[in-house]
Amino acid sequence: MMVFAAMFSNPFSKTSFAIITGATRGYGLELAKVIAPVLCRDSVLVLTGRNQEKLDSAQKLVNSLRSSDDVIVNTVKTDLGVADDVEKFIGKCTENVDVKSFQSAVIIHNAGSLGDVTLRMDEYSSQTAISQHMDLNVSNVMFYTAEFLRLFHMSPAKCFVVNISTLCAVEPFSSCALYCTGKAARDMMFKVLAAERPDVRVVSWAPGPMPTDMMVKMTNSCDSNMGEAFRKMKSEKTYVECVDSAKKFLKLLVENSFTSGKHIDYYD
Ligand SMILES: NC(=O)c1ccc[n+]([C@@H]2O[C@H](COP(=O)([O-])OP(=O)(O)OC[C@H]3O[C@@H](n4cnc5c(N)ncnc54)[C@H](OP(=O)(O)O)[C@@H]3O)[C@@H](O)[C@H]2O)c1
Repeated sequence: MMVFAAMFSNPFSKTSFAIITGATRGYGLELAKVIAPVLCRDSVLVLTGRNQEKLDSAQKLVNSLRSSDDVIVNTVKTDLGVADDVEKFIGKCTENVDVKSFQSAVIIHNAGSLGDVTLRMDEYSSQTAISQHMDLNVSNVMFYTAEFLRLFHMSPAKCFVVNISTLCAVEPFSSCALYCTGKAARDMMFKVLAAERPDVRVVSWAPGPMPTDMMVKMTNSCDSNMGEAFRKMKSEKTYVECVDSAKKFLKLLVENSFTSGKHIDYYD
């Protein structure tokens, strides 16, 4: 038991390399804000997104939360839905970095899209839109997770793979066929990874309903009950604040006693 605890201790208690995808806004930015202050010296935090201006302001904000500049915060502008960008993604994140110098390596798959919730599934008419959704949210995630693991396999770092999941991965939500299907597939992808790689710590974290751009989109659901439920949640503020969810997630990761591959919800 002692050996187990020593092997799988808090990833941020050591020099770590961490990537947060979709860190420009919403939950990803909040994750960056809670993680940055707890990183050890000589750690590297990589924030990714599609907009360099937003990345620059996220970097500035995150840097301001550290009392010293002993951690490097980098940004990588990339569209994770575009094959060319995806192929270069892990290389760009690790540019000018000695991967062998880290004791832990963490990738947080937070970037994602909701799909068009103004349509029911029987109204879908674009095969391209369906494929693009699955590329961004499933296939490309599988590809760069594999790249990340191959790269850090050559280093002494303990690897942590975090899938930002949702209740929609386990329960059907009307108007969300693309979103539910993609998230369910991701949960399974990471369960398989956990089964194949017991040396890697894997978790699917469902952060709870939060007041981000994604929630605003849900208010336009083609299912009027669903739209109304999200409008009510917004007006009555019965959602989960991003910061509370981010802090709870950080506690989960730092305690590091979860069963690898498990889907864990904010409300569990
Ligand atoms: N909000 C909720 O209630 C809720 C509930 C459960 C789970 N989640 C999950 O939490 C995660 C974050 O959601 P959120 O609510 O913060 O969403 P959000 O406000 O819509 O933010 C999405 C993030 O993903 C990035 N992104 C989107 N498409 C991208 C692409 N093609 N390439 C690269 N980055 C891209 C965005 O970056 P850009 O600045 O480049 O657009 C942004 O940083 C998602 O995985 C979501 O499924 C959210």
